[in-house]
Amino acid sequence: MSETYKTEQEAFWSGDFGDAYVERNTGDALVAGRTHLLSNVLRQAGPVRSVVEFGPNLGLNMVALKRLLPSASRTAIEINARAVEVLRRDPDITVHHGSILDPFIGTPHDLVFTCGVLIHIAPDALPVVYDRMYAASNRLIAVIEYYNPSPVEIPYRGHQDRLFKRDFAGDLLDRFSDLRLVDYGFQYHRDPNFPVDDLTWFLLEKSA
Ligand SMILES: C[S@@+](CC[C@H](N)C(=O)[O-])C[C@H]1O[C@@H](n2cnc3c(N)ncnc32)[C@H](O)[C@@H]1O
Repeated sequence: MSETYKTEQEAFWSGDFGDAYVERNTGDALVAGRTHLLSNVLRQAGPVRSVVEFGPNLGLNMVALKRLLPSASRTAIEINARAVEVLRRDPDITVHHGSILDPFIGTPHDLVFTCGVLIHIAPDALPVVYDRMYAASNRLIAVIEYYNPSPVEIPYRGHQDRLFKRDFAGDLLDRFSDLRLVDYGFQYHRDPNFPVDDLTWFLLEKSA
């Protein structure tokens, strides 16, 4: 494991596996699916003027958000250098190259979200990431992840200890008493028009 990172999983995503992921995930169909998904996530969000995505990779969700919320500022925190290179091609995105386990830099945003990222965080490190998400949000938190009622680890592309499913939203609701559940939903990988993945999403809000 790299000296620089606190967990094996961070080294994994910053290295060759993460580089190959960037090459695999491009195309208009993927952006269309994310646009559909995020429009559902945002349907009860109220006004959103700023968004930060934790672990955006090359920015499929960032591209979708540019269409959905053209006036909102977009910020990204990504650990993989190759993905950061691609993100920086859009000058409108504020890109931080680093780990979401590190303290959040900057002022809070209306919406902080993850999509397929908490599932790749070492379970022991999740409370730290939850604290970073909470600190980065001045109102909304969305988690778009693989759900399981109890924590499980499953093999990921031939690797062990790289994919974990659980009730991430439930963890957040338990950890922060001022959060409330606003909306939730599911996107099915067999959707005829938007076959993104089997993703369960939850929108949480800080009560005033
Ligand atoms: C499965 S990809 C999902 C990418 C993107 N959210 C999407 O929906 O297309 C996981 C992403 O999280 C990033 N990531 C994993 N651990 C991270 C960490 N500790 N800090 C920042 N980014 C991380 C990876 O480099 C990768 O880009």
